[in-house]
Amino acid sequence: MAGTSTSERGAWNSKLGFILAAAGSAVGLGNIWGFPTKVATEGGAAYLIVYLICTFLIGFPVMVAELAIGRKSGKNPVGAFKALSSNKFFPLVGLWGVICGVMILSFYTVIAGWAFGFAFEEIFYYLGWQEAADLLTDTGNGWKNAIIASAFMFGTIKIITGGISDGIERATKFMMPLLIGIIVIMIGYVLTQPGASEGVREYLLPDFSKINADLIFSAMGQAFFSLSLGMGALITYGSYLNKKENIPQAAAFVTLADVGIAFLAGLLIIPAMYVAKNAGIEIFVGDQLASSTDLVFQILPALFHTIGGAVGLILGVVFFLLLSIAALTSTISLLEVPVSFVIDEFEVKRKKAAWSVGLGVLAISIVVSFYPALIGHFDNIFNNLGLPIGGLLTCIFVAFVWKTDSAITEMEFGFAGIRQTLFSKVWPVFIYVVCPLAILYNIVTNFL
Ligand code: ALA
Repeated sequence: MAGTSTSERGAWNSKLGFILAAAGSAVGLGNIWGFPTKVATEGGAAYLIVYLICTFLIGFPVMVAELAIGRKSGKNPVGAFKALSSNKFFPLVGLWGVICGVMILSFYTVIAGWAFGFAFEEIFYYLGWQEAADLLTDTGNGWKNAIIASAFMFGTIKIITGGISDGIERATKFMMPLLIGIIVIMIGYVLTQPGASEGVREYLLPDFSKINADLIFSAMGQAFFSLSLGMGALITYGSYLNKKENIPQAAAFVTLADVGIAFLAGLLIIPAMYVAKNAGIEIFVGDQLASSTDLVFQILPALFHTIGGAVGLILGVVFFLLLSIAALTSTISLLEVPVSFVIDEFEVKRKKAAWSVGLGVLAISIVVSFYPALIGHFDNIFNNLGLPIGGLLTCIFVAFVWKTDSAITEMEFGFAGIRQTLFSKVWPVFIYVVCPLAILYNIVTNFL
């Protein structure tokens, strides 16, 4: 293991800074693009329920485990598994997380680029510059996708080179309250429009017959993706965490923030789909959705255009800018994983590591820009399958190699009375039994 200096690795300045950065990593396109899209295409309220169960019963315990591994080791995902045991297999689990993170980042920047482009589309639409607006709404335009995805990646690299507290922490502090505020205002507007009640019913009244192996597989992948689990991000963020901080409490806060924003995004977008349908916009062909990957990017601009005038313009621009910032705080964490790996393991300076890894990922993003159909395939392999596999192996590591008791000892820093709490009795049961069996069952039934 390379002897990386603390100043190269960095650390969080404050508890709030860490929580906001971890929440910033979790909250992103997964909440506002991925979750509503999957609710709309894969089962409405039934999907919501399975997603909530996966988040609280599987995602939260795994998040606690990842943060404990990160803080105890003070290393990147590969170095962390090396530091906590001499077993030769588990560093590969860390490497798998790094690979999943890189591949997810490669398509994430393209979708983030769509969101960023739409902020300008709203302005061009308002000004009546229809051709420019149409260019930005064309999610299949390879050159446009590649240029904006590149801009997004350069922004991410720039922040990462700034380091932990100055770069990542500062960038994430103001975004969350603003994003919640604007989503709530838009929900207020949408729910008063004709057609919205049909969407609310679709979102909140479950049809349990829709629950099947595919739906559970997708909801579990979505829970991992949205919480940034299985991709090494929270091991890495945990490695910068001060011993004074309470890990289960921080994980609970991040989980609640993430679920809360996903729930609100669903409450906005599912009714908005039906409002759009009511207004004659082609959302469905028969009873099937006309599109899936770019569904949110059809519904929301349509909504802003229906609001119209300066209010529609301002809401549209601010919303897409905030969505881009939410995506940026997630791309920062996705890129930070391979960058911390390169800094720790190969003794490379932060700046050089950030540029070389960032440009490498950008090369894959450019391919995705020209072939957006790859997004669905990457999502299935590296998100739906890859992240839960990482989570499963992390549970096995904590249960049988590092031991849950060592993890609880680590959590005693920042949570002195933890051994007297119900949490310390229940969490190990989840790590030994509930999470691994649920993840394994899900993967196996999906394959069968
Ligand atoms: N957790 C990040 C998101 O949901 C990757 O967008």
